[in-house]
Amino acid sequence: MTSREPTPALQAIGRDAARLLGQFSPIILSNRAPLEFTSTGHLVPGAGGLVKALTSLAKATKASWVSAARTETEREFALSGSPLSSDAQGDDAFPIYFAHTEPDAYQLHYAVISNPLLWFAHHYLWNIAIEPVVDRGIYRAWFEGYRVVNAAIAERAISISHQLPKRPLFLTQDYQLYLAPDLIRSALPDAALQQFIHVPWPEPRYMKVLPAAMREAIFKGLLSNDIIGLQTSLDVHNFLRCCVELMGLRVAEAEGAIFYGGRLVWVRAYPVSIDVDAMRQLSESPRVREFEAEVATWRSEKLIVRVDRTDPAKNLIRGFLAYERLLEDHPEYHGLVTLWAFLQPSRQDVDAYKQYLDQVRSTVDRINSRFRNEVWEPTRLDLEEDMHRALAAYRSYDVLLVNPISDGMNLVAKEGPVVNQRLGVLILSESAGAHEELGTHGLSINPFDVEATAGAIHRALQMNRAERAERSNAINQIVAANDVARWIRHQLEDIRSNTSPLRGLPTPQDTQPTRRPHAKPTRDVREARAGC
Ligand code: F6P
Repeated sequence: MTSREPTPALQAIGRDAARLLGQFSPIILSNRAPLEFTSTGHLVPGAGGLVKALTSLAKATKASWVSAARTETEREFALSGSPLSSDAQGDDAFPIYFAHTEPDAYQLHYAVISNPLLWFAHHYLWNIAIEPVVDRGIYRAWFEGYRVVNAAIAERAISISHQLPKRPLFLTQDYQLYLAPDLIRSALPDAALQQFIHVPWPEPRYMKVLPAAMREAIFKGLLSNDIIGLQTSLDVHNFLRCCVELMGLRVAEAEGAIFYGGRLVWVRAYPVSIDVDAMRQLSESPRVREFEAEVATWRSEKLIVRVDRTDPAKNLIRGFLAYERLLEDHPEYHGLVTLWAFLQPSRQDVDAYKQYLDQVRSTVDRINSRFRNEVWEPTRLDLEEDMHRALAAYRSYDVLLVNPISDGMNLVAKEGPVVNQRLGVLILSESAGAHEELGTHGLSINPFDVEATAGAIHRALQMNRAERAERSNAINQIVAANDVARWIRHQLEDIRSNTSPLRGLPTPQDTQPTRRPHAKPTRDVREARAGC
């Protein structure tokens, strides 16, 4: 397979899309575009797992993609009305449209509501005794930022849908765009709408921190979709409980159905994944091999790696504290182990993220000055976004530390093991979405427990080859069997079965959940299908 040939996963997505999406013209909506201009004018993939996962679908279906204009160059595209092509020379190009946003409105949307408020709610990040303080500033940002940007993206997507040949299928992504589906549903009652939430869904009590008016607008937006996709079964459970406890709705938990406004809305878990062959192919590229050779010049005998955005949810500080405890308890590792934190600076226009990065730096400095000697630096901290270097880190680790406080999925836990060359051990937080699939084969940790995390690192460093091979093979098999093609296929199958041809209740044959064949319809669902 050459690097220009589509991978088997991409081919499978193409076939599934042709089979399942024949009646639809898909439009993907996300806050961040899949490609972004660097300061030198080059186009690079946007940050985060969302872009990686959805790019495969966009390539296979030539979907239109609509994102907020976040920079001056993107605003120029928005004003010109023309799309940016994902790859002018390639066969798999898809158009990327930008919705115009004023810089101030975008700032309020991104740096006041989406990240400090909604992201923090989803990941249990507040120090609840003192934050959040829902004041006039938050209300202003909600009305003048979040709502405005959601409306701009919805309007752009609606106008694009008028130029497309088939029934539009709006695939809205994530928490930055909760309000868009309601606007789309009002304008286009017969459209098909699905939204995938990449972040964990919290319990009702935590969601209750948000003012009722905001919560209700969020649920109204989400429930305008035909299907809501979440990462794990726990997220589905929490979401349904929120519908009952915060919105007073009737739900059929066994079937993942909610009764809302005379319609059934389906809620399903689709664990997001990766294109394994694409990842392996890229990991063999000359650039990655060069970086790997460079790593070999400075690494210690054993290398612990973490690859993360600098996000408080990633729990970087406790990871360093666990490493410090390991070095304290086991002086025999001094000089023999390095922790390489390869971190991508994230959301530096949000105060909490800026402060967090400062704390990361000072924690690493403190640990290094405590233990370093003339020939050994215990921790290496690189702050950089470079997929090739991340892949070199993945190839080289003996231990991969993935210890988030809470994470929708965490693709690092899937990417690392499929390219690693040293039968490395995965240490995985029980609060990462990936834990539902991979928890038994990694070393499972409570992310708050630095003693247990230090113990897990020690165990991983001591593990014999046979056990490492067994665990690594098991993870590789699970990831290969549950790859990005499967993630997309399950969503497309449900879209075909569970979006009604016209607005209103689905017909009985359409409403059978595709992957719960044994679940009998409850009385509530039967009544709703019968038109109650
Ligand atoms: O995957 C979760 C997510 O928040 C995406 O929605 C987003 O694109 C990515 O992480 C990176 O975050 P940001 O766009 O705020 O840098």
